[in-house]
Amino acid sequence: MSDEDFAQLRDFIYNHCGMYFHYAKKYFLESRIGRRMDATGIRTHMDYYRLLNSTRGAEELKCLMDVITTNETFFFRNVPQLNALETKLLPEIVETKNRMGVRKLRIWSAASSSGEEAYTLSMVLLEKRAGLLKDWIIEIIGTDINETVIAQAKDGVYGAYSVRNIPDLYRRKYIREEGDRFILSPDVKRFVSFNKLNLYDESKMIVMKSFDIIFCANVLIYFDKTSKSRVVQHFHDNLHPYGYLFVGQSESLHGVNGKFRTVHFPGGFTYKK
Ligand SMILES: C[S@@+](CC[C@H](N)C(=O)[O-])C[C@H]1O[C@@H](n2cnc3c(N)ncnc32)[C@H](O)[C@@H]1O
Repeated sequence: MSDEDFAQLRDFIYNHCGMYFHYAKKYFLESRIGRRMDATGIRTHMDYYRLLNSTRGAEELKCLMDVITTNETFFFRNVPQLNALETKLLPEIVETKNRMGVRKLRIWSAASSSGEEAYTLSMVLLEKRAGLLKDWIIEIIGTDINETVIAQAKDGVYGAYSVRNIPDLYRRKYIREEGDRFILSPDVKRFVSFNKLNLYDESKMIVMKSFDIIFCANVLIYFDKTSKSRVVQHFHDNLHPYGYLFVGQSESLHGVNGKFRTVHFPGGFTYKK
């Protein structure tokens, strides 16, 4: 791929989804685009770029997103975050909402990949149904740009790699093992729904309103500062004043959005407006 073709395709992808491929990632992008060129029978990068801009472009773009996104995820990926949520942050939100007379909890797993993060939260909250969250309505929404992982999330069937970190208590209660497949119980799936959503699509982002908690972990690392800022501003708009925004363990909003303040807990931190 020539440097010119690389720049043209990189900018096209950036403008669509906010992911920015630095020059060091040129060979990664070339090989992934190469797969789509093989699949569509297209021989030059310029013709592939033309396909993306044609009437068949939207369909091809879906396939391109499937091959260029990194979907690595697993259950109970960030235990310190979950501990803080369970012991401190959730009771605090519940107390605030109780005072307001609202018994509904809305959580967004933004860039949920195949659903492990959203279902982890569902398991943790299910354990609170007898006490803290008795009679509460729980709504967990998982979204991702990649339609293949969204379909997997809806299925709720996983491999050994994904479930390896699930504590025994949860595993016994909420997972059924069938050969090498691990199947989620309907109880866990009941609170969770999944939809395709591009975090860089303004028209979709403005309707994701009124969340108590937003998780956006391990995705903004693929964005540049400008696209990160745009997405994080939407999270700011979409989150209640008493809510929390969680990012990945090695991520930070430093220099991205000054409107959030850091709240520390043992083993990590989260963000509040
Ligand atoms: C590494 S996974 C993170 C999954 C999960 N949040 C976690 O931390 O385990 C990153 C996900 O971000 C999604 N993604 C990348 N760009 C996106 C965009 N513009 N809008 C929505 N999802 C996006 C990818 O499809 C991928 O599934």
